[in-house]
Formats: sequence, C-alpha cells, structure tokens
Amino acid sequence: MARVEENQRPQAHHVLLFSLPFQGHINPILQLATLLHSKGFSITIVHTQFNSPNPSNFPNFHFEPIPDGLSDGMDTTTMVSMININCVAPFRAVLARMLSESRHGPISCVITDDFLFFTQSVTDSLKVPRIVLVTYNAISFFTASRIQMLHEKGYYPIQDLKSEDPVSEIPPLRIKDLPIITASTLDATLQLFVTLTIATRASSGLIFNTPDCLEQTTLANLRQDLRIPVFPIGPLHKFMVGPSDSSSLITPDNNCMAWLAKQAPLSVIYVSFGSTGLMDGDDLAEMAWGLANSGQPFLWVVRPGSVSVSECDKLPEGFEEETRDRGLVVKWAPQQGVLAHPAVGGFWTHNGWNSTLESISEGVPMLCSPRLVEQGINARLVSHVWRVGMTLENELERGEIERGIRRLMVGHEGKEIRERIKDLKENVDRSIRKGGSSHQSLDALIDLISSF
Ligand code: UDX
Repeated sequence: MARVEENQRPQAHHVLLFSLPFQGHINPILQLATLLHSKGFSITIVHTQFNSPNPSNFPNFHFEPIPDGLSDGMDTTTMVSMININCVAPFRAVLARMLSESRHGPISCVITDDFLFFTQSVTDSLKVPRIVLVTYNAISFFTASRIQMLHEKGYYPIQDLKSEDPVSEIPPLRIKDLPIITASTLDATLQLFVTLTIATRASSGLIFNTPDCLEQTTLANLRQDLRIPVFPIGPLHKFMVGPSDSSSLITPDNNCMAWLAKQAPLSVIYVSFGSTGLMDGDDLAEMAWGLANSGQPFLWVVRPGSVSVSECDKLPEGFEEETRDRGLVVKWAPQQGVLAHPAVGGFWTHNGWNSTLESISEGVPMLCSPRLVEQGINARLVSHVWRVGMTLENELERGEIERGIRRLMVGHEGKEIRERIKDLKENVDRSIRKGGSSHQSLDALIDLISSF
C-alpha cells in the first residue's frame, strides 16, 4: 500500500469520505483519505456494495458498505441517479450512528464526491459540515456549473458534434470539446448538473484534484463565483511515496513491467482508454492496425468488457503475428508505474482526468482520443493550452493513428512536446513540495477541518 510522509498530529479528528463507485472517482478519494490519515485524521470510508474497494488494502481505515440497488450493465448516468435516491436512507443511518458513537472519535466533517449531491441535505440535517471532492478538473466543473446558460445560448443539445466554432463564454473550448448531451438526454442531464451545482454551492468547501499552475484563471473565477473555500490539491497521487494500485478494482498485470524493462528508453507508446468507456469492433480493429503499422513498440490495455457486447472483442486476425516482437496487450496495467518507466515515451489516452494528470506528472507526451464526458475539454487543454500532446481530431482511423503515433514518438513536433511537458512536470512537482500551491492548499484544508 502507498505510504505518505508521516506527521505528528494527534488522531483527534475523524473524517468520513464517500466516493462514486467508479475507478476514476475511487482512486482520488482514497488518495485523499490516505493523505489525511498521514496527517493524523481517523478515516471512515462509506462505499456502495457495487464496485466496493478492497478494505484489506487499507488496514488503517474503517469501512462502511451501504446498499445501492446497482448492477452490472446499467449505464453510468442511471447509476448516478439511482445512488442519489437509493443511498439516502442508508447513508443517513450510517452517519447518524457514527455521530452517536465515540469508538472512532467525533466526526469533524464529511467529504463526498460532487456527484453524490444528495449528501448535502443529509449532512445539513445532521449538522455536519460537508466538503466536496471534484475528481475532474476546474474548467470542467465550471462548464458543468454553466450548463443551463449553455443551453439557453443554444449550444445544447449539440447540433454538430464536429463543429470547431468557439464557445466564446468558456475559452478555449470549441463546441466539439463540450460534453456530449443529445436531445434525448438533455432534460435529465441539465437537471443533474443544476442540482449538483446547487448542492456544491451549499457546501463548506471544494477540493479539486488539480494544481493551481494548470488552471489558475479558472480557479480564480470559481473562487469569486462560489464564495466557499476552494482547495486545489493535485495531483493527489504524487503526495504518495511510490506508485499505488491499492484502489484498483481490477488486478493489474504486473508482468508488463518486466517486458518494459527490455525495451529501449522512450521507445514504447502506452495505450489505455480508461475504466468506463466502450468501443465497437471496428474501433478495436482500427486501433490495432494503427498501432501495428506505426512500427513503434506498444503496451496496450484492452479492458475486459470495453468492446460492446454485441461486437466481436477479438483482436484482428494477423495482428498478433505482425506485432509479436514489439507489442504487448494486457487487460489492466499498473498505470502509474508504467508511465514512470523510462521505456515509455508516449501515452495514447482517452484523457480521463486521472490519466491526464498521471501523464503530466511523469512528463509523458500524450496522443489524445477523447471519447466521453469531459474528456474533450481535457484534450483541448493538453493540445492547445499546455501544448503537451496532440489530438486525433477524427474518428479512430488506422492511417491517422499511424501518423499520429509517429509524429508523437519520433517526429520533430514530438520532440518539442517532450521539452514542454518536462517544464510542466517541473511546475507540477513544485506545487506539491513544501511552500508549493497544492501543499499550501492541503495545509489550509487541514486547518479548516480541524476548526470544525
Ligand atoms: C472518467 C473521466 O473521464 C474522468 O475524467 C472522470 O473524472 C472520471 O471518469 P476514467 O475512464 O476512469 O474516468 O479515466 P481516468 O480518470 O483516467 O481514471 C482511470 C484510472 O484508472 C487512472 O487512475 C489510471 O491510472 C487507472 N488505470 C487505468 C489503471 O490503473 N490501469 C489501467 O490499465 C488503466
């Protein structure tokens, strides 16, 4: 399990944390919990039975499972709505019980994911402060909080998913970067984000897994707008000593580290599209042949269930023979360790926020293929603001993939990107050191929790 530097604060305060049951949300909340524990806080993790974390990986935490009514195969939006209904009574019961128990120490505050907006009224009624953790970045939260305005201005429902017209209210976004909301999902999505924003505004503070140096202007705007304390404390995983996969829901295939050890420095492109996205058989084939034709060594994560069930999830015939000497396909990788490996020279990513931050933290240039939710926003920042990656702007197509991989891994543009991401990594590293902005925000958060 990951360790963080120890601090001598007595274990007086008790923090209860509750995550959304998806990998990209579980990782940062358990990283935050580990960090707070190292600063002397007692930790209780409330979690749904669906996608439960493994308590044995966190022997210092107390775990409280609650029923949720979720099952495999439901889409994530339905799951979020169901949790916000089904978990109200069980969460209230756990919190009320823990408030009356002295066994684990008095609860100072509750930290919950912004998508668990129902927890605001529960904590209000039990008179416990709630702090919100946003696991994506500040500009995506800003966009979500402006969803009604974007609808009124005619951006939603999006008419042309390929439109490069600017969203002038939120530079540097273009229409094609916005989270996709179609006419059929418009009402439900608007309601979800309006409710989430109202609940967040009513909270006692907001934590972002982002460092100030990546999003200074947006964070300043949010501070002015929200009028609650805002704590940019990122990248959370970099406060840990050594890589951690203790919150992984799938067991990583660690054999890939031995394979990486045999590859030349900066030669391997690592490919992973995260924990939730789906693709069809055609996408899989285009990816496979793009990788094969690029001629670069690759480590590719093909997550079980990531290819739509109705499609064939087998790699195309001839692909394995063609790439046997320079490619490895795994079901799940120890991603933080992979990105830190000297053989890895590029990351072809879907730009989930955790993956994006992990790549910047290791100075690995990105090839971006955003697919869902706020990933288009992240890719826009990577390619056009920080300029530490390049985006494949079209559908997955083998020719564009092959050219993109070569440009990133061996082209002149790739070299410039590698130089820029080294500088960005250095800025991000500085933010978590003593005196850095994330370090100071963490101290301020600890002071706030200790004051409750
Ligand atoms: C999605 C969103 O895109 C993201 O921005 C949002 O905040 C959460 O939901 P996801 O698809 O899970 O996230 O991607 P990402 O945010 O990148 O998180 C994936 C996590 O799984 C990362 O921490 C990554 O290190 C880990 N991972 C992924 C592995 O450990 N092994 C793998 O093989 C692939």
